[in-house]
Amino acid sequence: MVQDRTSRTADVFYRTWRAGACRLSDGGGPFGFDIAVALLADELITGYGCDAIAETGCFLGDTTAYLARRYPQLPVHTCDIDPGFCAFTARRLAACPNVTVTCEDSPALLARACPQYERTFAFLDAHWDQDWPLLAELDTLDSAVALVHDFDIGHPRFSFDTYNGLACGPPLLARMTCPPERYFVFDPAAVLPLPCLQTGRRAGIAVITAGLDDQPASASRYLAARSLTSAHATAAS
Ligand SMILES: C[S@@+](CC[C@H](N)C(=O)[O-])C[C@H]1O[C@@H](n2cnc3c(N)ncnc32)[C@H](O)[C@@H]1O
Repeated sequence: MVQDRTSRTADVFYRTWRAGACRLSDGGGPFGFDIAVALLADELITGYGCDAIAETGCFLGDTTAYLARRYPQLPVHTCDIDPGFCAFTARRLAACPNVTVTCEDSPALLARACPQYERTFAFLDAHWDQDWPLLAELDTLDSAVALVHDFDIGHPRFSFDTYNGLACGPPLLARMTCPPERYFVFDPAAVLPLPCLQTGRRAGIAVITAGLDDQPASASRYLAARSLTSAHATAAS
């Protein structure tokens, strides 16, 4: 069963065009062309029994295309603030009836779409230049499992973003209106069932369970649990 899911994930993943290569520093592709993230996402979507997917920041639709075809039974909502990127992604995915692409600010998408479902899988990837809506996105979530891209997991192989001197890492989580006691990060020592073919930039990953049980994330073979320390809370104040 797990093997079937792994094969299906790999099959759809490696058949997805990397349109984002024109601008993204990781060369584009689903989840930055990191199969480990696709495997983790599959574990979370299955373990939480997610009934919808939301992506923030579609750009040219590489991850949207993967998610839409890997999970044709689930509604996939995605957005971008750039009308040209939205038009490109909508055209690219015109044959996928489960996809809705909207041009809007990402916290607005999450606030509108997620309450329609019981357990949303949210891929938070909206950031560009100085625009960084992640904190507002996290604050809208209730009853969702969120995968944050470009998070500081404290390992040199995995990159993260910094905006206005604030790293996308634990100090950012400490600024949430209701910071989680525990969150999860991708474990660099995790044994993958498939080789990761991304030889360039890999992004750190954090997982936050908003209003959902921690158990499926705790049981993940790809994640390690972390707690927000008082040092992070101090950094946030
Ligand atoms: C890193 S790219 C996303 C890549 C895409 N998820 C993928 O996997 O190919 C970030 C995108 O977020 C969009 N973005 C930035 N701020 C946003 C906001 N506030 N709301 C929606 N999209 C935003 C940018 O226009 C850009 O296309």
